[in-house]
Amino acid sequence: MAKLRVGLLFGGCSGEHEVSLRSAQAIAEALQQSSGKYDLRPIYIHKDGRWQAGDLAEKVLAEATPPALMSAESEAASATNPSGELATTQNKVLERLRSSASIEGVDVWFPVLHGPNGEDGTIQGMLKLMQAPFVGSGVLGSAMGMDKLAMKMAFAQVGLPQVKYLPVLRHEVWSNPCVFPKLCDRIEEELGYPCFVKPANLGSSVGISKASTRAELETALDNAASYDRRLIVEAGISNPREVECAVLGNDQPKASVVGEISFQGDFYDYETKYTEGMADLTIPADLPAEVAQSIQDMAVRAFLAVDAAGLSRVDFFVESTGKVYINEINTMPGFTTTSMYPRLWAASGVSFSELVDRLVQLALEER
Ligand SMILES: Nc1ncnc2c1ncn2[C@@H]1O[C@H](COP(=O)(O)OP(=O)(O)O)[C@@H](O)[C@H]1O
Ligand SMILES: [Mg+2]
Repeated sequence: MAKLRVGLLFGGCSGEHEVSLRSAQAIAEALQQSSGKYDLRPIYIHKDGRWQAGDLAEKVLAEATPPALMSAESEAASATNPSGELATTQNKVLERLRSSASIEGVDVWFPVLHGPNGEDGTIQGMLKLMQAPFVGSGVLGSAMGMDKLAMKMAFAQVGLPQVKYLPVLRHEVWSNPCVFPKLCDRIEEELGYPCFVKPANLGSSVGISKASTRAELETALDNAASYDRRLIVEAGISNPREVECAVLGNDQPKASVVGEISFQGDFYDYETKYTEGMADLTIPADLPAEVAQSIQDMAVRAFLAVDAAGLSRVDFFVESTGKVYINEINTMPGFTTTSMYPRLWAASGVSFSELVDRLVQLALEER
């Protein structure tokens, strides 16, 4: 049987570029171990948006390191294949891919891209235009799963419990000095302190601050507005437990066991997320069976509410009273060998390589 050609896209114009390299490396290894079923075509997306196949992509994948950080020797070696470059600007990508890389005959794409420009429907729209099947959510599911305001509206529609929140636009924060104090008054009245101020479309806790005073709120809004036009301010839960559930499937998705993240510090910020040893995962989470079951049900409802496909990780807060709130869905969750998503499935009886295999099959399934 002919091997299935898998176009592995990784890197990307996002703050989660480095995580993408590590996720892609783990996925590539699993695909290569799949008893010769797949023919892997790695394509690296530089931080500036250029797409590159060939030696450089292979090298970045093998080292899980962006070219700028590679040793001079490695980069010089990979520069010997300039023909691997697929496009010099993002605008040319589609045109060139249609005439050249689709030609490389990719049967299915695996966009292992986290955050903006990868998990938000942009790449998905392009792959759809190329009429190629791809792993994960489509345009709608990716966009809804990226934008915290859109996702919350979808969650509310299906009755999922969430904290109180207010949508804010950048212009309310920046453009009019009369509007800003009124905005802060409204946040104080409706949400109180502490509250969390977030850019609506980011990830990895970038731009997120916890505010406990008016001065902190003002700084937090200004900071978040520097990242995104759309912001969200949420009522803070004090010292919540943070639990996560993995979902796999298309129209009849299944939920994994529930896992818990514990860490030192005020909240699960960027540093805690990416510093080795700062967070611990407990799988399965120590929760009463009926609470775990209800979290699994909610995870599946959240997946369907945003029209996700393939995979998602759904994150929850458990208050000290035991009340559970949904926090967010991630349609392309971290996928390194130590990431929560594959570990939740491993604990649910699906090994890393079976998981990757299943995701490719789900991409090929008629929806
Ligand atoms: N409403 C909230 N109450 C308490 N903690 C919160 C709240 N919102 C966010 N946090 C803390 O901030 C972290 C990052 O927020 P999150 O919305 O998950 O952003 P990201 O999409 O960047 O992961 C959470 O994991 C949690 O530790
Ligand atoms: Mg999160």
